Amino acid sequence: MKTFFTLIAYPMKKVFTAIALLVCMFANAQEVSIIPQPTNLKVNEGSFSISAKTTLQIKSAGQQKAANFLNKYLQEFYGFQLKVTVGVGSKNAISLVNTNGNAPKGTYTLESTSNGVAIKGANEEGVFYGVQSLIQLLPIQKSSSLSIPAVSIQDQPRFVYRGMHLDEGRHFFGMDFVKKYIDFIAMYKLNTFHWHLTEDQGWRIEIKKYPKLTTVGGFRNANIIGRYPGKGSNNTRYGGFYTQAQIKEIVKYATDRFVTIIPEIEMPGHASAAIAAYPELSCFPNESTPAIPTMHSAATLEALKKPGTKIVQETWGVFDDVFVPSDNTFTFLQNVLDEVMALFPSTYIHIGGDECPKESWKRSEFCQKLIKEKGLKDEHGLQSYFIGRIEKYLNSKGRQIIGWDEILEGGLAPNATVMSWRGEKGGIEAAKEKHTVIMTPGGWMYFDHQQNKKEDSVTIGGYTTIQKVYSYEPLPKEMDPADHKYVLGAQANVWTEYMNNTAKAEYMVFPRMSALSEVLWTSKENKSWPSFEKKLLHEFKRYDNFKINYSKAYFNPENN
Ligand code: ACM
Repeated sequence: MKTFFTLIAYPMKKVFTAIALLVCMFANAQEVSIIPQPTNLKVNEGSFSISAKTTLQIKSAGQQKAANFLNKYLQEFYGFQLKVTVGVGSKNAISLVNTNGNAPKGTYTLESTSNGVAIKGANEEGVFYGVQSLIQLLPIQKSSSLSIPAVSIQDQPRFVYRGMHLDEGRHFFGMDFVKKYIDFIAMYKLNTFHWHLTEDQGWRIEIKKYPKLTTVGGFRNANIIGRYPGKGSNNTRYGGFYTQAQIKEIVKYATDRFVTIIPEIEMPGHASAAIAAYPELSCFPNESTPAIPTMHSAATLEALKKPGTKIVQETWGVFDDVFVPSDNTFTFLQNVLDEVMALFPSTYIHIGGDECPKESWKRSEFCQKLIKEKGLKDEHGLQSYFIGRIEKYLNSKGRQIIGWDEILEGGLAPNATVMSWRGEKGGIEAAKEKHTVIMTPGGWMYFDHQQNKKEDSVTIGGYTTIQKVYSYEPLPKEMDPADHKYVLGAQANVWTEYMNNTAKAEYMVFPRMSALSEVLWTSKENKSWPSFEKKLLHEFKRYDNFKINYSKAYFNPENN
């Protein structure tokens, strides 16, 4: 969000890079800048011009999604569309073909010559990614005839899991932004959207069997002002949720872009919103949420005068009131998950598992009795029992669980995938136990961290520059190379305590998401920060074209 003063403070090296690149771009309008960097990219002599007279040929109905995507893009940014025909072969055409090969999902070739463009995917994902690369070859300037360079590209992803997360519990962004976010994910050839839908501060998914989850749990009385513990309450009611019809629309939107949505339903901690709606889910249904006069709103303090009142949290952090592991809670969660599974076709369901304080379980007679009855070691054993029971249910429905690395404590559920967020240790340990893992270590993959040494708006802290994101290697050195096969990929997480509007969310995500795409897609040999840095300047122009609000921290010498 810094502008003039940071711009005049460009380090000299970056000024020269910027000038050289701009000169180059003016001299050669055919500059090729594709992010993530393809496996092989050769720029040939010549060019091809796309205009309304060009046809878009598909080999079969399977390529219709990719064709529709390209036409929608052309319409939005250039004001014309191409006629779609079935069958390939003629000149002045862009052809989309699925060769149904054995190559990894997403593999494609793109060949542009003066006659046209041929995109061949080994599968429909591959065709779609070929279209994404073609879009990056288009000039930014609007024109009725779009010249693209002649190129030969062979490309395939490095990792099968390429994820972006979004926390909508802390702040709720709504349909338009979520669709935009999915477009960003697809633009960078990422394939997974981890949608964090339930939190202490808000439950965001309609569950028909339990309407109070959203009518009560979807709203909080206020937010704290500023950075935790804050300067008091803003006393402004806040909230929102997605209806099941809206979720279906989002899932279709993502499917059309080859993005899988993994919903996260948090348990056993981060459950205050659900407990506010249904207090019997707590170990102590009759105990009120503790009042914090310096942080809570007037409405909450008034409500808490009535004994046994539970509130949807309006401050950040971790809260002791968590799900009681009773049969009633498991029935509730299974019913919730039944509705979730009906909405989301993803094999994986994320069940959270992080930051569950054990205080309530220690105090609860019921929990202590259960620990003895089940022969568990302690409260960590109880957490493991909780997650294991949910895993068993989801496995019986043909689904798999993902949990944050705390699910290792007390013993991993037999088939669980672990998301390693407290560094890489959890991922290394889980892989040693032959469990699949997804790397999301805070130091590199937390996009709620600031990008500037001194940000001009509040963030949660941390300091993760685009260079640092780019440097991330998802196969940790400390991991036995024999275990590397368990690493499915990585993901960046966007926790939104301090992102209360979509412009701020974009600012935190961009340009770091571009670096993430090369971490996950580009081969280790092809990854190069100096080359990426050159492309970044072109990428900023694309962001301007897309009206994306991105951080200019890269230009600030303090961040080098
Ligand atoms: C987390 O950041 N609590 C997974």
